Formats: sequence, C-alpha cells, structure tokens
Amino acid sequence: MPPTETEVAALQQRATEAAHNSYSPYSHFRVGAAVLLQTDQRQDGAIVAGTNVENASYRLTCCAEQAAIASAVTLYGPQIRIRAIAVVNLNGAACTPCGACRQTIFEFSNPETAVFYPNASGETVSTTLAALLAAAFRLTPV
Ligand code: THU
Repeated sequence: MPPTETEVAALQQRATEAAHNSYSPYSHFRVGAAVLLQTDQRQDGAIVAGTNVENASYRLTCCAEQAAIASAVTLYGPQIRIRAIAVVNLNGAACTPCGACRQTIFEFSNPETAVFYPNASGETVSTTLAALLAAAFRLTPV
C-alpha cells in the first residue's frame, strides 16, 4: 500500500532530523533517510531514520539509507520489509539514492516500495524501487 501524504511528511521530517546529525566533514553533504516499515504484528508502521557517516578513508563512508536500514534491522529484526523510504539533504540539492543504496533497499523491499527524494528544484519526486533499479542483483544459490 503506498504511503499516505501524512506518512510521507512524517518520513521527511524524521529524515531531516537525522540529517542534522550527519557526520560529513569531507563532502559537507548532509543526508538523511527514513524508512517506513510494513505493518505486521511486530512492526506497527514504525519509522526508522539514519544519516550519512563519512570516514577519512572515503570508501568506508556509510550512506544515510544504509544507516537507516541497518538501524531498522537492529531494532526490529531480519524480517523487516520497507513500505517506503524518503531521502532528504540539507544542501538544497537533488538526491536520489545511489546505486549501492538501491541494492540495499532492494534487499528489504518489493518492487512497489515507494521512494521519495528531492529533485534539483527542491520538489519531491515519488517513484518506486523497481523504477530506480530495474535489474537488481539476486544471489543464485549454488
Ligand atoms: N550519500 C548518501 O548518504 N546517500 C546516497 O544515496 C548518496 C550519497 C552521502 C555519502 C557521502 O557522505 C555524501 O552523501 C556525498 O557523497
């Protein structure tokens, strides 16, 4: 079920709060992400947020989306499913989830999982994970 406007606003609010804690001394790009978990007996539509955490060894940087998902798994367990995810930044820039984050979101999503991000004009773009990642990697058991 797609998120309501109220749910999207709550996701963006939580993502923005997280972005204020961004550790980004190298890029100065402050990103926040928040995931809305699918409701079941254990997850009552919970929202979990994360921010980007950079490192002097640049490639060790953790994106906001990955931080949010790691926290969601930590809090709610390995069965979490993501109904929607919002990404924001405090730099007034366009900000789609990077390729690695799309694959991370895919791990806990379905093709209809809603993704919200700002475009270059600051408008919120609403799309789906399937549209952002057409051919996700799937591990074929050997
Ligand atoms: N970043 C994210 O947090 N999420 C993305 O999807 C793309 C990039 C962060 C990583 C780095 O700290 C900064 O943005 C600049 O690349």
